[in-house]
Amino acid sequence: MLLEGEVALITGAGRNGKGIGRSIALKLASEGAKICIVDYNVSDAELVAKEVMEAGGEAFAMQGSVAEFDHCEKWVDEVVKKWGKLDILVNNAGITRDNLILKMSDQEWDMVLSTNLKGVFNCTKAALNQMFKQRSGKIVNMASVMGIMGNPGQANYSASKGGVIALTKTTAKEYGKRGIRANAIAPGFIQTTMTEEMTEEAKSKVLDMIPMKTLGTPDDVANVALFLSSSLSSYLTGVVIPVDGGMAM
Ligand SMILES: NC(=O)c1ccc[n+]([C@@H]2O[C@H](COP(=O)([O-])OP(=O)(O)OC[C@H]3O[C@@H](n4cnc5c(N)ncnc54)[C@H](O)[C@@H]3O)[C@@H](O)[C@H]2O)c1
Repeated sequence: MLLEGEVALITGAGRNGKGIGRSIALKLASEGAKICIVDYNVSDAELVAKEVMEAGGEAFAMQGSVAEFDHCEKWVDEVVKKWGKLDILVNNAGITRDNLILKMSDQEWDMVLSTNLKGVFNCTKAALNQMFKQRSGKIVNMASVMGIMGNPGQANYSASKGGVIALTKTTAKEYGKRGIRANAIAPGFIQTTMTEEMTEEAKSKVLDMIPMKTLGTPDDVANVALFLSSSLSSYLTGVVIPVDGGMAM
């Protein structure tokens, strides 16, 4: 198994049934990792932890917000108390609050930036405290093709995900010599609750932009998260891998 004995913390993995974080939790667990699932919504996080355990893995869930550094610090402390180390951090939690720039409120801007970008900073900082001591660690950040291409109606979201890409590269440059790798995934359109809320017209416009003419699945993203979390990617750091059916090229 690729992650035998390793310990992973995954944020925003509580969307039971559909989310990308859930698929990543199940995938990393199937390769031997012990999983801590954290989410705003703890009842769904507990259901995902239960799913991991029913599949023969080890997991537990905790509640909190990535936007609060104290919560991130507590999650890392609890994981280390329980399993003695932290090998993998997957910064997956993310939200959208779409609007055109002229109509976008400060609240819409701040909410998205504080979850999607400051949340990644908070969890990275909390995890690095432990990974720095271990002199090893792997950080996988969930960006988006919108952070590369920009998208009308998503100034806040695109800016946050562009920021995640820059933060990933900076983390890679600052901590590479300490044995810590940081990489990002830039999903295109993936079949999740986030994309289910799109109108049929919007979906058909999106399909026009995708060379493969189909949406991706959470499992497509989870496969790349496994690659970036494991020794299969041992000489990769600071990269952004699009999982988008060719959309952003
Ligand atoms: N679905 C897509 O097509 C797509 C495309 C590109 C990027 N992404 C990114 O992938 C990630 C997962 O997306 P998804 O579609 O599975 O989303 P989702 O909404 O299904 O899941 C996101 C999870 O994050 C949790 N969350 C939200 N705010 C939080 C906070 N402050 N603290 C802790 N948890 C919080 C939610 O409760 C939810 O369980 C996100 O970062 C998203 O931006 C998704």
